[in-house]
Amino acid sequence: MASQVLVAANRGPLSYALSDDGTLSARRGGGGLVSGLSAALAEQPGALWICAALSDADREAVRQDVSEPGVRMLDIDPTMYDDAYNGIANSVLWFTHHHLYDVPREPVFDAAFRRRWASYVAYNEAFTRALAEEAAQGARVLVQDYHLALVPGQLRELRPDLRIAHFTHTPWASREFLDMLPQDIRGELLWGMLGADVVGFHTRAWADAFAGAAQPDDARRVAVFPLGVDADELRALAHRPEVDEKLAQLRAEVAGRRTIARVDRTELSKNILRGLLAYRELLEVHPEWRGRVVHLASAYPSRQDLKVYRDYTEAVSELAAEINAEFGTEDWQPVLVSVKDDFARSLAVYRMADVALVNPVRDGMNLVAKEIPVVSEAGCAVVLSTGAGAYEELREDALTVNPFDVSQTAEALHAALSMPDEERAERTKRLAAAATALPPSAWFTAQLAALA
Ligand code: G6P
Repeated sequence: MASQVLVAANRGPLSYALSDDGTLSARRGGGGLVSGLSAALAEQPGALWICAALSDADREAVRQDVSEPGVRMLDIDPTMYDDAYNGIANSVLWFTHHHLYDVPREPVFDAAFRRRWASYVAYNEAFTRALAEEAAQGARVLVQDYHLALVPGQLRELRPDLRIAHFTHTPWASREFLDMLPQDIRGELLWGMLGADVVGFHTRAWADAFAGAAQPDDARRVAVFPLGVDADELRALAHRPEVDEKLAQLRAEVAGRRTIARVDRTELSKNILRGLLAYRELLEVHPEWRGRVVHLASAYPSRQDLKVYRDYTEAVSELAAEINAEFGTEDWQPVLVSVKDDFARSLAVYRMADVALVNPVRDGMNLVAKEIPVVSEAGCAVVLSTGAGAYEELREDALTVNPFDVSQTAEALHAALSMPDEERAERTKRLAAAATALPPSAWFTAQLAALA
């Protein structure tokens, strides 16, 4: 049956793992897009989520036809997929929008880039065809993120009856970075996105950056929908018995010390290394915290097909080990790194943390900054960088820092650890109120309404 509401996103709500005996098991995907959209779609019966098969196990699931109701996974040729996802989406578009290039060496737009771009076009076309097949007459289609920037333009040509929105979960590049792209590629990218009736972003800053690159007429289609969190749902999740168990374990490990927490994918834009440097400087400059604080750093692996991400992951473990070797004592380990994507443990960390460190160099929204105040039990002081999308909504009650200024971040950690309990609790309440202003279901229906 044709669908009235469709979502297209590279990553689906679940991904599969194949065990040695050949059985498939499903697990929830990581990252802000999946957590926001999954929550929103739970309240949209009949909606269809089209996503890519990301791994061999996902492809096996497509072949065995085991995918969940409401989800259609596309089995895309692995080489083409690799070129589109790793080669273009994650190495070019992600780097451009997050300003991650090491400019003396990168980017390089050569013949190999052109071949990968052709794969990116074809991968977008695979989504476009599936949407055109599945969409009812006049249906509303919500296309997600930089992976699928060309889909709105392509779909508009195939199915002019559809109402199409595109939503970007990342920042939008500044003019300087956008202009690094070859002119025709930049034009194709804008053409693709502007195939949509509504082009959405998490913050005014990213929307303005996009509007600045478009023609004044097109800029009228740009809208801001700042994704927030669903307080009731998140609190219920945070009080499941398995989270209580993790919390008890963590409390035993931390043994009454104060905690500074971070939870991220091991992602270049999250600025995990400078976060660790700031913690080291805190222990140097304010030795009174030695033995009295633990840094709980969850940095779970992400995009490990890319060498620069593998190197970054290694650098994070090395720096944490250095700090532990330099300051650790027989009964105190200053940094506890956790590399497992363990949502229950993250929620336990959210409940107990005294301080949250959220210091991305540049980030579309950053839901972690919004989730922590909602779940926190006694209040949590949030050290937040100006680069986070959430900065626009949370700046007043967070301790804000320049993500590159390690010394300022160290001082903010000190101020956060020293904050009187009452002030911390009050700020946390206001942060939680701001964080829940537009929960996923409202975020989603606002976009549907914008297409009506
Ligand atoms: C960000 C992107 C999402 C992506 C997520 C995880 O939040 O905006 O589109 O799904 O990171 O990254 P991955 O490459 O693992 O899907």
